[in-house]
Amino acid sequence: MSNRRTFAIISHPDAGKTTLTEKLLLQGGAIHLAGEVKARGQARRARSDWMKIEQQRGISVTSSVMTFEKDYDGETITFNLLDTPGHEDFSEDTYRTLTAVDSAVMVIDAAKGIEPQTRKLFEVCRLRNVPIITFVNKVDREGRDPFETLDEVADMLALDVSPQMWPIGMGGQFEGLLDFESGEVSRPEGPSKEFLGKRDSDPEIPEEWAEEAELAKVGYPEFDLDAYRSGDLTPVYFGSALKSFGVTELIDAIAKHAPPPRPQPAGDEQIAPGHDEVTGFIFKVQANMDPNHRDRIAFMRQVSGTFKRGMKLTPSGLGKPIAIHSPILFFAQDREIADTAEAGDIIGIPNHGTLRVGDTLSEKDAVRFTGLPNFAPEILRRVQLKDPTKTKQLRKALDDLSEEGVIQVFYPEIGAQHIVGVVGQLQLDVLISRLSAEYKVEAVLEASPFATARWLKGERKALDEFESFNRANLARDRDGDLVFMAKSPWDVNYQIEKNPELTFSATKER
Ligand code: G4P
Repeated sequence: MSNRRTFAIISHPDAGKTTLTEKLLLQGGAIHLAGEVKARGQARRARSDWMKIEQQRGISVTSSVMTFEKDYDGETITFNLLDTPGHEDFSEDTYRTLTAVDSAVMVIDAAKGIEPQTRKLFEVCRLRNVPIITFVNKVDREGRDPFETLDEVADMLALDVSPQMWPIGMGGQFEGLLDFESGEVSRPEGPSKEFLGKRDSDPEIPEEWAEEAELAKVGYPEFDLDAYRSGDLTPVYFGSALKSFGVTELIDAIAKHAPPPRPQPAGDEQIAPGHDEVTGFIFKVQANMDPNHRDRIAFMRQVSGTFKRGMKLTPSGLGKPIAIHSPILFFAQDREIADTAEAGDIIGIPNHGTLRVGDTLSEKDAVRFTGLPNFAPEILRRVQLKDPTKTKQLRKALDDLSEEGVIQVFYPEIGAQHIVGVVGQLQLDVLISRLSAEYKVEAVLEASPFATARWLKGERKALDEFESFNRANLARDRDGDLVFMAKSPWDVNYQIEKNPELTFSATKER
């Protein structure tokens, strides 16, 4: 049985994801002072110009991996926490990160309930049957009636909810948290009313709250491991990330209930962790983590086998093996060179553009993981250079950034202007900012006549014929694949009807 738990936290901005992350790392001994996650984040931001956007918008554009461990009766559980970008514009990036996890923690603000971003992220999890543990945060503040929150989760997300804890009072009247399983109440202490480890095993609970807790216990389904793992039921923990309530219970629940590494789809096959070779897929590429070295890190989710440093793996996009000499494991404080890694782990692979999002890496070069598509862009813009002598630099930059998955780039069959496509507006800001900061290319974006794009597939003859009539609406993507640039959704439907022998695909698997 694997001791890896690879998960992400999904939430709406401000629900408390950063604070909870910090407390989880603190519990795992990965950091020693609360506040370090943010502090480190700021130090990192200061290093790179383009990350100014993060500061201006107060969002996290870069996503990272944090690994920490906790012992349970002699067994060490390794937690890999993948940070999902917290902005709704980054649906594509977030989607890919969620393909690399086996479970998720959904953080809800006790006063606000399910917010739009929580819901979107939840839908992505549901699409992939990712099981979810719910953490209702900020019970130290005046919030909604907990029953209301539970019913909202159940109704809006069509999930069974199974409370595992109950707050004794909220806000000013908050007297602690009752753990249903142990019957203990964790108590606030000191002037800041934090949880400092005081657990009451024979608690006196005011009648009103005792009744409520009893009602919650009998009124909702009991925890059922199978129902949780198949995504039909969510166990609900209450707590306060800020005051450290419910954090131990949450981490223990992940250790105990969250699934170990799951098989991953590869066409018609499922590759299980026990598969007889090392396999994995790249779900993210991040450039310039250290601007002095212009390095580029590809994040690989390992799916099977035992990886050893120096091992040769073949990336599907390259077709020949490369030796992985300096893999990186992301222990929260430092980047560390990894000697071995197991299924479920995330390995950072430094490279100069050979690895791309969606690539499969494997020893035998026979497996191809699926389910990491590019999505048809919803916003298309023409890139206009301010200095026309920089065409070469622009092309290099656009190729790089599309490999990283920041944008998609399309080269029209007619005309010299490059077209960039994104799923969300923020990606365009990142593009302009990085073009200028990293490639010294000043550019502006102009409206393009196109509204969306579809990847074209079909027999050579049919494709050629379509091409000869529609050259003005055709482009090649970064891989040289043919793309139909549509002026409207109507345009797409029209062409689909007119060309039954071709497929117009809204996603592309690499
Ligand atoms: P995010 O990453 O999900 O965006 O949320 P983050 O952790 O940054 O938390 C958002 C705000 O909510 C922060 O306050 C944080 O201190 C507060 N918060 C998080 N968890 C709790 C909790 O359990 N109880 C209470 N009362 N507050 C909580 P801020 O004032 O915006 O930031 P800061 O100045 O405190 O850092």
